[in-house]
Amino acid sequence: MGVSSKKTISVIGLGYVGLTTAVGFGLKGYKIIGVDLDKEVIAKINRGLSPIYEEGMEEALQDVEVTATLDYGEVLGSDISFLCVHTPANSDGSVNLDYLRGAVLQLVDTLQAKEGPHLMVIRSTVVPGTTEGVLLPLIKDRPNLQICVNPEFLREGKALNDFMNPSRIIIGENNAQAGDWLYEMYQSFNCPILRTDLKTAEMIKYASNAFLATRISFINELGNICKKLGIDIYRVAEGMGHDERIGKSYLAAGIGFGGSCLSKDLEALMAQSRSLGYEPGILREVHRLNQEQPRRLIELLKKHLSPKGKTVGILGLAFKPGTDDVRESRAIPVVEALLQEEARIKAYDPKAIPHFKRLFPRIEYATLEEVLKSDAIIILTEWPEFERVDYKGKVVIDGRRLSKAKEASVYEGICW
Ligand code: UGA
Repeated sequence: MGVSSKKTISVIGLGYVGLTTAVGFGLKGYKIIGVDLDKEVIAKINRGLSPIYEEGMEEALQDVEVTATLDYGEVLGSDISFLCVHTPANSDGSVNLDYLRGAVLQLVDTLQAKEGPHLMVIRSTVVPGTTEGVLLPLIKDRPNLQICVNPEFLREGKALNDFMNPSRIIIGENNAQAGDWLYEMYQSFNCPILRTDLKTAEMIKYASNAFLATRISFINELGNICKKLGIDIYRVAEGMGHDERIGKSYLAAGIGFGGSCLSKDLEALMAQSRSLGYEPGILREVHRLNQEQPRRLIELLKKHLSPKGKTVGILGLAFKPGTDDVRESRAIPVVEALLQEEARIKAYDPKAIPHFKRLFPRIEYATLEEVLKSDAIIILTEWPEFERVDYKGKVVIDGRRLSKAKEASVYEGICW
């Protein structure tokens, strides 16, 4: 296909969702204009470098036509804009819409210069009712502008693969023509496409993440009980998982869920529910259990060693393997608790040290070999390289179930 024959779309916000959306549609043959506020991010993308650590992203960037820019004016070269800007949490857990509102207003302003139709697609995660109640009013005087909701289900570290091979595509619409437009774009993806109203699409995203979080807290609670009974929770999960109605995924017991999405979305849904006068009991407990797991890990450590003045080695700072992201990583509450216990901390992670350093500049960061010399070792992320370590003769408290770690002379798993 000649360059000029490609259709152009624009993507606003080039974080992991935006970049993945941009590169994913790029691989599908679209020409992409990416807009972001961060000059460094733009410079990197334009040099073919990925600003985030994401499997396959840098290679894919070589194969696509993506131009990153600070200038909203470039959006005029496209008819569809995917909005992927951050929607961070307010202190009460509710969603901060400042960036998203700002981006929609900027678009509305920029698109003054356009007469033909333009579709804005909300990919950012917003609580049910937001698009209808907050964003649609911003375009009410502009009949050529339309909005759809199209939540993403991209796992960090596997985002590009999840984009290209989605389990489902959700299109929230208040206008069938706008929905048709987006439906057309997703025709070549081999998965069910569900069309709903705007707020149902928004809720599907929250319901999905809340359900994943619930499975994890459920299996962690069962694991806490099984540990007391001397039962292996991983065998229990295996036995449960053979039941098609239950399935195997998200039943790996351990220190709990981290990352920017599961906790944040759970809290946002709880905040919305409370604002409507309904106390969300299950969600509240899912969240509470997740907060408690790190404390349980410290208690297990204290069974074997008094942390004060001792060197405690931490293996894993990223919230999961395959990413350098430390947002809501379970390593954060563990390090905070160890500092309170006046332990000396030595930490290692193959990718996430620079990000963790910004949160905890004063703890010691060391090589894997150095960390292994600590008085006790705590495992918080199941990086494959931690399965190749010799743990013999060591005190190990495991939050992630590494099979090799069981060779330690003192071994204690959080749920097993
Ligand atoms: C999550 C969802 O899985 C995606 O579908 C969703 O699109 C994304 O949030 C989002 O809202 O953008 P992600 O945050 O990348 O994706 O993380 P997951 O791979 O789901 O893992 C979350 C946490 O749960 C990790 O800390 C992981 O270690 C933990 N986990 C996962 C467990 O403790 N046990 C499990 O069995 C599975």
